[in-house]
Amino acid sequence: MNINKIQSSKIDSINFDKLAFGQTFTDHMFICRFREGKWQEPEIKPYGSLTLDPASSVFHYGQAVFEGMKAFKDDQNQVWLFRPEENFKRINRSAKRLQIPEFPESYFFEGLNTLLSMDSAWIRPGKGNSLYIRPFVFASQASVQASAANEYVFIIICAPVKSYYTGGEINVLIAEEYSRAANGGVGFAKAAGNYAAQFYPTSEALKNGFQQIIWTDADSHEHMEEAGTMNIFFKINNTLVTAPTNDRILDGITRKSIIALAKHNGISVEERPVKVQEIKDAHQAGTLEEVFGTGTAVVVLPISSFSHQKQVYKLPKTTPLADSLKEQLMDIQYNLAEDPFEWRRGIH
Ligand SMILES: Cc1ncc(COP(=O)(O)O)c(C=O)c1O
Repeated sequence: MNINKIQSSKIDSINFDKLAFGQTFTDHMFICRFREGKWQEPEIKPYGSLTLDPASSVFHYGQAVFEGMKAFKDDQNQVWLFRPEENFKRINRSAKRLQIPEFPESYFFEGLNTLLSMDSAWIRPGKGNSLYIRPFVFASQASVQASAANEYVFIIICAPVKSYYTGGEINVLIAEEYSRAANGGVGFAKAAGNYAAQFYPTSEALKNGFQQIIWTDADSHEHMEEAGTMNIFFKINNTLVTAPTNDRILDGITRKSIIALAKHNGISVEERPVKVQEIKDAHQAGTLEEVFGTGTAVVVLPISSFSHQKQVYKLPKTTPLADSLKEQLMDIQYNLAEDPFEWRRGIH
């Protein structure tokens, strides 16, 4: 791997107490190009702009996938990743679906390890502080032919972030018109276009006072699937229920960690189709105790209300299970608790 260090760090100009999510980036980035049928020697270099041909096929056909993961620092200044092998496997599952060549495991982990060691000063210790890591890959071949490219760029950039806390209510709209994903489509992949397709319906929902949309199945809109960047859980009668993953739903790493933690806490968890009507009935019967989203950015985010067919359903203000699972998960991430599942990976 070629390493090209910055002359002087920009870290002193950063106000770590006022970080807008994902808008400040560290000093270096990892970059690796695919050409002539193989991934070339990777490089770590100063964070900066790219020069791309206007015909680069990503601009025309959206052949691009990405990941989102975090690094944490404990009180001894040790940096930890959380289940990074899951992100590695997932970016290659996404890449395969988008006909992008899979990325070598050794490049991914050596790249991450070196990049995080070089930029470790950007990770502040303390629960809530973390480094958001964005690996992504896109088609760079200069061609407007509508077919898979033969050149790609794989990059990892990193952004220091504070804990995601809006302070306000999270009111969600249950989708009745638009859909996020279709059977046989790319919903399970972190394909860039999946997110672009949500921006219009989500901004319409925002205008009506909703912070997020919970997507339902495209056929009937009767089943709850997931939110924009979160999987969704419902606590009904002391049981945690969440939709099973399939080709329309992202297999969230926080989702599977929360399922494991909940079971470890003796809570029964059901992964099964969740009907909107079932949730409304449980609300009516007073057995819907909590609704929360899970994802790398938010960890666990309690939902304040949901709306369906113009009817608003308020949820209980206290969310003891969501709060407890969030604390337990973060304690593992920050090396403040035992890690019975062996989820932490140290950076050396
Ligand atoms: C569509 C979607 N669902 C769920 C999630 C949560 O996944 P994870 O817990 O791996 O961050 C994300 C974010 O990565 C997402 O983009």
